[in-house]
Amino acid sequence: MFQLTRSVTWQALKRLHEQTANDRIRDYFAADSQRFDRMSLRVGGLFLDYSKHQLSDAVLDKLIELAEHSALVQRRAQMFSGDIINVTEDRPVLHTALRNLGKGPLMVDGQDVMPEIQSTREQIRTFSEAVRSGEWKGYSGERIKDVVNIGIGGSDLGPNMASRALLKYRHPELSFHFVSNVDGTHIQKVLRRLDPATTLFIVSTKTFSTQETLLNAKTARRWFLENAGPDADVGAHFVAASTNKKAATEFGIREENVFEFWAWVGGRYSMWSSIGLPIALSIGYDGFMEMLEGAYEMDQHFLTAPFRENMPVLMALIGIWYINFVGAETQAIVPYDQALHQLPAFLQQLDMESNGKSVDIFGHPVDYKTGPIVWGQTGSNGQHAFFQLLHQGTRYVPIDFIASLKPEPGVEEHHFALLTNMLAQANAFMEGSQQDSRLDPYSCPGNRPSSTLLLDELTPRNLGALIALYEHKVFVQGVIWNINSFDQWGVQLGKRIAGEISERIDTNAGDFDPSTQGLLALVREHFPRGEPTTTEAEAKATGEKGRKGKERG
Ligand code: F6P
Repeated sequence: MFQLTRSVTWQALKRLHEQTANDRIRDYFAADSQRFDRMSLRVGGLFLDYSKHQLSDAVLDKLIELAEHSALVQRRAQMFSGDIINVTEDRPVLHTALRNLGKGPLMVDGQDVMPEIQSTREQIRTFSEAVRSGEWKGYSGERIKDVVNIGIGGSDLGPNMASRALLKYRHPELSFHFVSNVDGTHIQKVLRRLDPATTLFIVSTKTFSTQETLLNAKTARRWFLENAGPDADVGAHFVAASTNKKAATEFGIREENVFEFWAWVGGRYSMWSSIGLPIALSIGYDGFMEMLEGAYEMDQHFLTAPFRENMPVLMALIGIWYINFVGAETQAIVPYDQALHQLPAFLQQLDMESNGKSVDIFGHPVDYKTGPIVWGQTGSNGQHAFFQLLHQGTRYVPIDFIASLKPEPGVEEHHFALLTNMLAQANAFMEGSQQDSRLDPYSCPGNRPSSTLLLDELTPRNLGALIALYEHKVFVQGVIWNINSFDQWGVQLGKRIAGEISERIDTNAGDFDPSTQGLLALVREHFPRGEPTTTEAEAKATGEKGRKGKERG
């Protein structure tokens, strides 16, 4: 059986690490005046500089060889053509189909999926135009002014991040709110400011079974009925993005307002589907399509560019070098752009839920490190928070700096300061303070690596390309590690036990471990027996039988 760590290429990379461990990145530049030109590339509106890495040419050659000897070409083709590569869930992985702008059919299980995708796109277009133009009326005949997306994980982070990133394109009469946490203060804080007559809720949930989202949606519906009156039309104020039409209609959503997507779209890859509805409402359908176009361009680049000029492949290989050979545990994401402040959280789920795995696709334990801990926040704030550790701490943390070049009108001076700060940091991490640490123990050692990703401008198209870039980077790493990047059994376990604990709190708590039992006893003191309430008004709106009892949780 093939063992990655025993392969000739892996062993060669290990030796190369021993040989180059003391190399200085700045010496690579001194020895090669063309390094920046050779180690940078442009794809559409994105420019990547990967020259400030502890990466000799020999290392890069071997990393490319690692990719060539992997199943990447085959697995990439399988993903794009709808083969079942999510083996544990027995599904294809087809988020790329959602942004496919090619003309041909895409057959899955003998059926062309493109007509369904196009018809949902059309549904998104019609609905978003109706809401944006004011043609869509609430129960009192007024136009929608506030949109609340209720969802969590992939049903929140993508549209949340993108809507904030593209805030400058937002419809001037619409405000957007994202409720994800099951902590009731989150939804309360949002609802407090809203008028039910002009509020639209999008219940975003692939499964329509996620506890947090269902509880928040029920709370929103109760608030709506209590404030709008029991006869107000839930159907005019609640829509859903879900694969589970039945559960959505049972909730009270009109069938024609359930924006469908499909089991072959993973939650964390779903912002290109109807989960992206808040984006289309915010920036308009044409803007949403531009985002898809940017992602499609990156898909085409990923599919066709040779590995050595392939942006996602290069980023993936550089990550593998640090994780598997240099021993880095984490990857920092630092956007020098306030509009991208949600990007680290989005990438955290994308990367850690995808590649946080310790068995390969056959279920065998792996003997190498897989996905890194992804973290970060915006610069320049980070400079005054965690950068000290990155400069002089004992950890080794590769950094992705991300920024857009074009300043916003009126804040040119700020933007110049933003970009120069970023360049200063990347330089300082690499160069250090250039004093001999034997003479000055407080000097900065330097030799700390970073990539710099520049967007010409933060447009829907470039954002689409940026997200697709990271999706493919994560995919490439998963293929080389031979893991399934598309399941999430750890998360499912947590979801199941949360359900069991709340069901058995009164009766069978004895099944849990002593610590959980002890803690549950403390929780129980605050939650006397009783079932969650369904008010009469809610029951009337949904056809459910009303239940009395105390609210729990
Ligand atoms: O976080 C785990 C997860 O399963 C994600 O993959 C998904 O995006 C999220 O839960 C929410 O699930 P749903 O969209 O079904 O409510």
